[in-house]
Amino acid sequence: MKTQMVLNTDFTRGTISKHIYGHFAEHLGRCIYEGIWVGEDSPIPNTEGYRNDVLEALKQIRIPVLRWPGGCFADEYHWKDGVGPRENRKRMVNTHWGGVVENNHFGTHEFLRLCELLDCEPYICGNVGSGTVQEMQEWVEYMTFDGESPMADWRRKNGRDKPWKVKYFGVGNENWGCGGNMRPEYYADLYRQFQTYVRNFGENKVYKIAGGANDFNYNWTEILMREAGRHMHGLSLHYYTVPGVWEQKGSATDFETDEWFTTMRKALVMDELVTKHSTIMDKYDPEKRVGLVVDEWGTWFDPEPGTNPGFLYQQNTLRDALVAGVTLNIFNNHCDRVHMANIAQTVNVLQAMLLTEGGSMIKTPSYHVFELYKEHQGAELLELHIQEQTSYSFDGVSLPQVSTSASKGTDGRTRITLCNIHPEQEAQVELELRGLKGTQGKVSGRIVTAEKMQAHNTFAEPDCVRAADFSDAKLSDGMLHTVLPPMSVVLLTLE
Ligand code: AHR
Repeated sequence: MKTQMVLNTDFTRGTISKHIYGHFAEHLGRCIYEGIWVGEDSPIPNTEGYRNDVLEALKQIRIPVLRWPGGCFADEYHWKDGVGPRENRKRMVNTHWGGVVENNHFGTHEFLRLCELLDCEPYICGNVGSGTVQEMQEWVEYMTFDGESPMADWRRKNGRDKPWKVKYFGVGNENWGCGGNMRPEYYADLYRQFQTYVRNFGENKVYKIAGGANDFNYNWTEILMREAGRHMHGLSLHYYTVPGVWEQKGSATDFETDEWFTTMRKALVMDELVTKHSTIMDKYDPEKRVGLVVDEWGTWFDPEPGTNPGFLYQQNTLRDALVAGVTLNIFNNHCDRVHMANIAQTVNVLQAMLLTEGGSMIKTPSYHVFELYKEHQGAELLELHIQEQTSYSFDGVSLPQVSTSASKGTDGRTRITLCNIHPEQEAQVELELRGLKGTQGKVSGRIVTAEKMQAHNTFAEPDCVRAADFSDAKLSDGMLHTVLPPMSVVLLTLE
């Protein structure tokens, strides 16, 4: 049996925001310190204190937006401790993540400079849980005000004359949990209050993001939209793919087919979540003005044995690549409502793009998927209809075997990304292309796959899983035929 689809290459369904390909870097474990920031005096090659290898790798996937400083850390972070001469900055305890000392050497200036070096937009998450309205108000003033004021003058004194452009600002994080254990009614009121003082200075227009729901908490979305919807530009959603339970999530590398299946099943739940939270948002915002911002997503496994459990360091296999591929397809297909998404987290934490060990760095299978998908950024989503679909069944439960999305880029090229989640069977796909001028044309392909589902990159073997050319796709008479190997993520580009 084949999977049969129809792609209308001349019928677009909206723009895929480049911010769907966003990232998240928290003061957690070895993400910021070691992973990104090593300081100017480090023997690890760096630019102004940022690792060169990491900067280079992140530029290659064209990261569009970076969320910082947390996560749970955000609601304990006091930004004033992280500006001014580094030797004078306060040392604090990172109570959430391993109880380690946070020396505040990476603060507002360092983060915003990182975004400049990466040419990406900053997305700052402010402190509602343990912070004050004044503190949040002054942070925005410090970063973005051009005139004379106590905060703008302090910024100048600390070495930055011109204000930065900071468009994306989150008003708290997980305020139903680590951000204050609040009820939605209470947080909705606090959100309304705090956001009032998140000011637009000069040209800087802030896109305000309210702390949203965790996975299936539809009531949170309902209350937030009802009570505060008109005061926000975005509402967040967090969802992690955990094959087991929180107490025993499962190993990142030591798993078999049953956990592969559960992981795929749970990753696909993102479609249901986005659909249902969007439906609630539609009720209050039928014009879809408010964006759904999935600012934490990805796999969460047990920490790598022998590492600090509070550091959330995990390896990344071909399974993670498939989770990334299917999730990004879901976001593309919901681009009318999903304005941004941020995979957790950039380096050395959870479903990371990059792993580091001293002066060495490796790219994970997930990184290679982001590399494959990067041309979807800012492209026009194309209407793609699945007429017949093969299934992947396990223990009496069936999942659609192939996940896909398609777009037309600013260069006029049509791109289709396809994931075959079946661990043993290839997927034969027949795609009818409608709206193509003439029947000529060329198709080229790239693929991320491996022989084993546990395949991953190590510092000894950094290229076990990487992107390669893929030639098993043929175009003739307006039909595209391809055979996707088991466990593969494929990009097809029509010239
Ligand atoms: O990404 C790790 C943590 O997961 C974040 O700090 C928090 O927001 C979420 O619970």
